[in-house]
Amino acid sequence: MFAVMTTSRPSCSVNSFNTVRAWAAPLLGGALVALSTLASAQTPAQAQAGEALARQKACLTCHQVNKAVIGPSFADIAKKYKDDKKAVDRLAAKVRKGGGGVWNMPMGPMPAQGQVSEAEAKQIVAWVLTTK
Ligand code: HEC
Repeated sequence: MFAVMTTSRPSCSVNSFNTVRAWAAPLLGGALVALSTLASAQTPAQAQAGEALARQKACLTCHQVNKAVIGPSFADIAKKYKDDKKAVDRLAAKVRKGGGGVWNMPMGPMPAQGQVSEAEAKQIVAWVLTTK
């Protein structure tokens, strides 16, 4: 306690330095958050559009974000492919063609999702991969 009191007796210049630091820290934190959002390739607006499309295209009849139902949970899918740079293309193709063999769900493989275009499938899968 005594030590804190002696070191915190500010001279004028130390005081203004502390003021700058207090002001700069949250600013720097905000910049880092913005950077990491950019690095994840999906802006929040893009992710939101992907989620809306998943709802509209009935993916959520079989998938939930955090719970395996008929299909595996989207969060589990995102974890499985987190280091796979080709996942969006490959999974989007599989969504359109349908198929099984990876998750071996009791209800069987995923039927072909012909209601989505290639671009829509990629948009939805890109969102799916953010849900981990
Ligand atoms: C009728 C149920 C059903 C519907 C509708 C459905 N899925 Fe699936 N999905 C599954 C099942 C079952 C699996 C597990 C397939 C496997 O074991 O390889 C799966 C797996 C997946 C996977 C992971 C594939 C892999 O190889 O790891 C993705 C991604 C996916 N679905 C996305 C979608 C999207 C996007 C839609 C909507 C366009 C959709 N699904 C609609 C049942 C469904």
